[in-house]
Amino acid sequence: MTRTPIMAGNWKMNLNHIDAVGLVQKLAWTLADEGYSREKCEAVVVPPFTDIRSVQTLIEGDKLPLKHGAQDVSQHDDGAYTGEISASMLAKLDCRYVVVGHSERREYHAETDEIVNAKAIKALEKGLTPIICVGEGLELRKQGQQVNHTVGQVKGALAGIPGDDVASLVIAYEPIWAIGTGEVATPEDAQEVCGAIRAAVRELYDDRVADSVRIQYGGSVKSSNVVDIMAQPDVDGCLVGGASLKAEEFAKIVLFYQR
Ligand code: 13P
Repeated sequence: MTRTPIMAGNWKMNLNHIDAVGLVQKLAWTLADEGYSREKCEAVVVPPFTDIRSVQTLIEGDKLPLKHGAQDVSQHDDGAYTGEISASMLAKLDCRYVVVGHSERREYHAETDEIVNAKAIKALEKGLTPIICVGEGLELRKQGQQVNHTVGQVKGALAGIPGDDVASLVIAYEPIWAIGTGEVATPEDAQEVCGAIRAAVRELYDDRVADSVRIQYGGSVKSSNVVDIMAQPDVDGCLVGGASLKAEEFAKIVLFYQR
């Protein structure tokens, strides 16, 4: 079973639509210069909502070897939900991916496993691939609860989702203590939890689903640590924050397979 690695750059609340065009152009040029092959690794940019239309137009107009996604999606179809963005709006912008349940959404917007589950289901319904984020905070890590906690979140997020859909989605393990802190989980820490997530998917579904679902690691990923992280058998890609805001650095992460 071969899973195509996937590197996604979650820009969070950074870069306006003009900056976005500059970054995507530079990223595409850098990848082209270095002989990037999309068969070797999928490269995804995940800008703020206000940038998506510009990024879409650039990627499609110039046929760039990149995919784009969004950072969140509403669990509702449409209606009186001020400030929210629906899955069909994102699908209309040709978003391929949508991040759901990022720890920053869980923490600052009180998103529960039930909400994350509802968002993932809504995304799938509209043809978007959810990148479902899970991961423990420092307290749970200190108590050795990282596997229990994270697997529990995975089960909650996948509730009621059929195996065929799970096989094609992405789960991102992001230990909260490693996000934006410079504190990277060791490759072995990443493997421990990513392996446990795959084992849980195997138990909930079957071998086919478990061997297809792609699992990312996220948390202070940089070009200097990505190769060791990607060498782990159950890590199929990375969800990258800060390092995805610099074209050359993110390109090096995407091109990890050349090293
Ligand atoms: P950093 O790479 O900045 O630690 O962020 C990780 C993250 O939260 C990506 O979603």
